[in-house]
Amino acid sequence: MSATLTMTQPDDWHLHLRDGAMLAAVLPDSARHFARALIMPNLMPPVTTAAAARAYRDRILAARPAGSMFTPLMTLYLTEDTQPAEVAAAQAEGLIAAVKLYPAGATTNSASGVRDFQRIRPVLERMAEIGLPLCVHGEVTDPEIDIFDREAVFIERVLDPLRRATPGLRLVLEHVTTREGVQYVRDSGAGLAATITAHHLLLNRNHLLAGGIRPHFYCLPVAKRERHRKALLAAALSGDARFFLGTDSAPHPNAAKQSACGCAGCFTAGNAMPLLAEIFSREHALSRLEAFSALNGAAFYGLAPNTSRLRLTRVDGENLPPRLDTAEGPVTRFDPGFASAWSATVLPSAKEPRA
Ligand code: DOR
Ligand code: ZN
Repeated sequence: MSATLTMTQPDDWHLHLRDGAMLAAVLPDSARHFARALIMPNLMPPVTTAAAARAYRDRILAARPAGSMFTPLMTLYLTEDTQPAEVAAAQAEGLIAAVKLYPAGATTNSASGVRDFQRIRPVLERMAEIGLPLCVHGEVTDPEIDIFDREAVFIERVLDPLRRATPGLRLVLEHVTTREGVQYVRDSGAGLAATITAHHLLLNRNHLLAGGIRPHFYCLPVAKRERHRKALLAAALSGDARFFLGTDSAPHPNAAKQSACGCAGCFTAGNAMPLLAEIFSREHALSRLEAFSALNGAAFYGLAPNTSRLRLTRVDGENLPPRLDTAEGPVTRFDPGFASAWSATVLPSAKEPRA
């Protein structure tokens, strides 16, 4: 097994950076390894307008560590009142790379999301015309549906009808967690892709719940059975261009996670690439990591790959410190329970990364 991999610098196609003091504290973890990231808009209040996205992008740029070229790619939060013209103008201006659909009540700060999917038909038609992708949190919110079934039921009840109604719409099933989700993407054409997180490649629901509840492994969609994790792993390793990395790194202060009603989210940004190197290398597929984390996502979004490189080297356990102190209290970095055997270093290119 090779002890070093030098690859195109990766991008993160699904990232929660938060705002204010939390943004300043967590952004360096993403900027360490990733050149670009698709920034989720579920702030309080959500990023529903071009003006809000512009201001949020500027706050992110201002919070970058000195010398960092990290590029945020912005999204708009879709509501039932989102106007097709606003979305089209934001894309034309080069401000947004996608629109994010949260079913109302599905996850953190999703209350302003969509209840009646008929009401978003006009904006989806317009997005199909202009080739602007829709990123979907794929879970139903029906309380009758078991939480472990919410993704599979979403595909059947919402996603498939929505795709049939708007055939040209480019769509990303975010943080896919099930065999059904992987199969649905495999059975579809190039206009449907899925992001996969590092933590869903590592965890099944036993890791979350057996022998004690582990709040730092709790996220949404929740980790599923082992057979689903295996399906995700097969998709990530396959090289299929429709599967790519979106970490869904989602920091919350420890007090909000270690609580009687804890928040969903794993803070993985800083450890994701070393952990992925470990996962891919255990499967004797290290050379496929570049497609999954640096090439497939850029191609889906119509962007050139980064010109900078990332070097991954086998070392003796080099995890980041487990605790990150922020003005909102300590945050726990994702730790799967084993030391990562890889370190990652960015090798700058002569040219700047293309945005
Ligand atoms: O675990 C999650 N955390 N899943 C989401 O969909 C949202 C995210 C967050 O914003 O905390
Ligand atoms: Zn997310």
